[in-house]
Amino acid sequence: MIVDVISGNPLQYESQVLALGCFEDDRSALLIPELNEVLGGLIERLYIQGEFTGGLNKTTFIHSLGNLPSERILLVGLGQKDALTCDRLRQVAGTVVQLARAKGITEVASMIHLQAGTMEEGVAATIEGAMLANYSFNRYRTKKKGENPIERFSIFAPGPDHVPLYEKAVTETRIISEAVLFARDMVSQPSNVVTPPFLAEEGIEMADVFGLGCRIIEQEEMEQLGMDALLAVSRGSRQPPKLIVLEHLPNRGERPVVLVGKGVTFDSGGISLKPRDGMEMMKTDMAGAAAVMATLRTVAALRLPLNVVGIIPAVENLPGGSAYKPGDVLCSMSGQTIEIVNTDAEGRLILCDAMWYARRYEPRAIIDIATLTGACTVALGTVATGLLGNDMDLKHLLSQAGEATGERVWELPLWEEYGELMKSDIADMKNAGGATAGTISAGWFLLQFVGDTSWAHLDIAGTAWEEKGRAYVPKGASGVGVRLLVEYLRSRC
Ligand code: BES
Ligand code: MN
Ligand code: ZN
Repeated sequence: MIVDVISGNPLQYESQVLALGCFEDDRSALLIPELNEVLGGLIERLYIQGEFTGGLNKTTFIHSLGNLPSERILLVGLGQKDALTCDRLRQVAGTVVQLARAKGITEVASMIHLQAGTMEEGVAATIEGAMLANYSFNRYRTKKKGENPIERFSIFAPGPDHVPLYEKAVTETRIISEAVLFARDMVSQPSNVVTPPFLAEEGIEMADVFGLGCRIIEQEEMEQLGMDALLAVSRGSRQPPKLIVLEHLPNRGERPVVLVGKGVTFDSGGISLKPRDGMEMMKTDMAGAAAVMATLRTVAALRLPLNVVGIIPAVENLPGGSAYKPGDVLCSMSGQTIEIVNTDAEGRLILCDAMWYARRYEPRAIIDIATLTGACTVALGTVATGLLGNDMDLKHLLSQAGEATGERVWELPLWEEYGELMKSDIADMKNAGGATAGTISAGWFLLQFVGDTSWAHLDIAGTAWEEKGRAYVPKGASGVGVRLLVEYLRSRC
């Protein structure tokens, strides 16, 4: 999608459709009185007859019948004026793009980026919503389905002076949005393509293109490092495990933020096999890995003046002949022993060794992101990502980033009493608790591997995949976590 910044009067601009934002409670919004005039009172009539209310994401098409250079006007509701937020702008832009696509329109001119926050934030939110809504995953279709992506999206700056400011916001937003689309592509791809070696190759290629440091730790080195927990999960598969390390280290001597992403390219459950219905969804069990990789390419492209490291343990969890089994006792890289009671609680096993490995960077914070527990979906549904951790300030910054990006997070407690659930009769801990507090007991498990490092855990089991489709998140992989993590990292600069 080409994004144009134009200065001039939108009502004098020629496009297939001109989208105009309107408030529910203020009909004097930018251009609306002017448009009403040109169209002989039509807008007034639509409001009076209740045909268009300005309610959030509500839309009405109007044909201009030669009264304006643009063929059609799309009125789109912004809701109450005081309630306008960046996320509402994303939704509105997403709504416009989806509707235009459905009508086979390929060029949209948009005047909806009214002030929510600063002017740049309004522009960024609008473009982000449009780009994210313009996505569909068609790589494996041999026959075209009517996807009709928007080819050109133009926004209006108030005057020529503002154009550079707008263009800067557009450039940055494009970098971030394209990374989200990359993450969606990775998650959407099937597990016969996205294997641990495939992820490693992507990492190498990304490092080359974006200027990141990259190292792949192979099985042999993992053995030397004592990553028994990670290796155990991988043993039931023919796919070799890979530990992918991506580095963005612009500041000499500064302690980095380390991001750790769960990269289970397929989770069958292993010997504790999952039920057959819905198992195909377990190709998405590397959504944390995709989010971390996409975040690293973004911080490099934005040249963020902050040291950031991404670590991705990539494995496949299958019940092969040498698979790990319930009852096995493993010795993690940290030296702590783990009794396996369920081979389907594999994510924490690969994360615990990756997080222990992260200590060599003396991180100022570790954030892990993982499709870790079905219990998180039970607790929070698909609306919020689960947040747990040991550092109030870090959790607060992530919550703020969640509000700013619309990728909301919600905290669950991590009181030491929950550790009772994980007590083992034979080892230092079990790898799974019982039927209760599944997200928290998983978090408690990870806590045992961070020492006193500032740490937060994001459980995206409920948010990584969109079942129905929302304004700017089409049905399928959501790419969740990328915008959240990038926003958090930017807030630290
Ligand atoms: N990858 C799953 C969690 C998951 C479930 C993600 C549904 C996305 C959608 C994870 O490895 C898993 O199997 N967790 C178990 C943990 C249990 C055995 C303690 C679960 O949630 O049932
Ligand atoms: Mn599992
Ligand atoms: Zn899993």
